[in-house]
Amino acid sequence: MSTSKKRRILLIEDTVPLAKLYIEFLRADAHEVVHCTRGGEALDAAAASPPDAVILDLKLPDMDGLEVLQALHARDASVSVVIITAHGSIDLAVEAMKLGAFDFIVKPFNADRLNLTLRNALERRTLARMVEGYRKDLDRGRFHGFIGSSPEMQAVYRTIESVAASRANVFITGESGTGKEVAAQAIHRASPRRDGAFVALNCAAIPKDLLESEIFGHVKGAFTGASGDRPGAALLADGGTLFLDEICEMPFDLQSKLLRFVQTGTVNPVGSGREERVDVRFVAATNRDPLAEVQAARFREDLYYRLHVIPLALPPLRDRGDDVIEIARTFLFDYAREEGKALAAFTPEVEARLRAHDWPGNVRQLQNVVRNVVVLNDGPQVTLDMLPPMSGPDAASCAASGSPSADLPEGDDAVQPLWQVEKEMIQKALRLTGDDVPRAALMLEISPSTIYRKLQQWRIADGRSAGETAA
Ligand SMILES: Nc1ncnc2c1ncn2[C@@H]1O[C@H](COP(=O)(O)OP(=O)(O)OP(=O)(O)O)[C@@H](O)[C@H]1O
Ligand SMILES: [Mg+2]
Repeated sequence: MSTSKKRRILLIEDTVPLAKLYIEFLRADAHEVVHCTRGGEALDAAAASPPDAVILDLKLPDMDGLEVLQALHARDASVSVVIITAHGSIDLAVEAMKLGAFDFIVKPFNADRLNLTLRNALERRTLARMVEGYRKDLDRGRFHGFIGSSPEMQAVYRTIESVAASRANVFITGESGTGKEVAAQAIHRASPRRDGAFVALNCAAIPKDLLESEIFGHVKGAFTGASGDRPGAALLADGGTLFLDEICEMPFDLQSKLLRFVQTGTVNPVGSGREERVDVRFVAATNRDPLAEVQAARFREDLYYRLHVIPLALPPLRDRGDDVIEIARTFLFDYAREEGKALAAFTPEVEARLRAHDWPGNVRQLQNVVRNVVVLNDGPQVTLDMLPPMSGPDAASCAASGSPSADLPEGDDAVQPLWQVEKEMIQKALRLTGDDVPRAALMLEISPSTIYRKLQQWRIADGRSAGETAA
């Protein structure tokens, strides 16, 4: 941060000739000085454009000066307030210091005295800001729905923060369950568009022939079943963020229509001749390698470059160090409270196991494991025997790396892949509820959209070759 930058000083002094004199004093340091004669007016000015330092006369016609001081600090804890006081009211100035004022000067004073005090005040402000910045980086174990303080995630949080203010398109990549949707929402929530809508469109979950109308909308009679005009996701996201999830699954011919939309900002509802202008920020996500999809001619290169302005890669959970434990503990706390269970901690062996695991399903898999533990067990601590089998190539690597996994049940019957257990459980809940997805979701304590997505994933997987499905 440059210290030569013009700083904004708010001068609160009701005696106009004195104020004029102080402004004259301050001219030497070429600050931008805003003068107010009343407390209320000064608080409005501070709200409209936050000052770097404040010079405050405690005797004001409309408000108690100490109240003004507190209101200024409530708005910005790092603002430095210099008190000016008459000789007879030094006790008031001392009171102000106790309330956090930076310093006080007794009237009358000269230009040097004022400028020196102010320079110190501004210096302190710069330092306070730096410390605040570092602390934010170090402490940031939580960020808009994310848990985790690893350096890898801090980098993710910083990217999100720095891109949020712009309207640049963001392309999120990461394995399944790494938090791509959480990231898309964080970008929206940290952006000036936060009051607009966040509209998520899962390109894999919507049947091919409906996708175009889902994105662009349609007019009455556009196709059989189009009984009225319907706005698409593009229009619903006007002024907000359009999240194009699983973008690589979008049919090739539709990609050129999307490209036109991204380039021109106009949409053409199905069946209508007219164009509509919309203002959206695009965030796209995929768990595939998008460049490989481009090379395989499944994803348009021009669309890729339009959407891939800011890449955001979410690291796999196995690369996030102790985030695994941080996340697991939070889930344990939350789920135990939801389920009315006493489980409050993991034993060290359990934490070692969680740390050593590969987590092919990333945070979602960890979520499922902890949920499973909490639903099926009780007690003050989670012990090794309570962990469900965490199968897959990772379990083997766990054993190979010497971590404590010898007590896992072995043999074909004992260990079932987690996805299979999940699939069977969802199918069972659907059977029991007569395919009522919202009720099945309630039973499973997951969101209905998770079931819809799973059903879609299985449909897609069933349609693919066995070799691909196994991947
Ligand atoms: N860092 C995290 N902290 C806490 N919860 C997380 C974190 N990352 C993800 N989650 C949770 O894990 C689950 C999966 O996250 P999300 O749906 O965003 O993943 P995804 O990358 O979009 O997965 P997929 O590719 O399967 O769609 C969600 O319930 C989400 O809230
Ligand atoms: Mg997702």
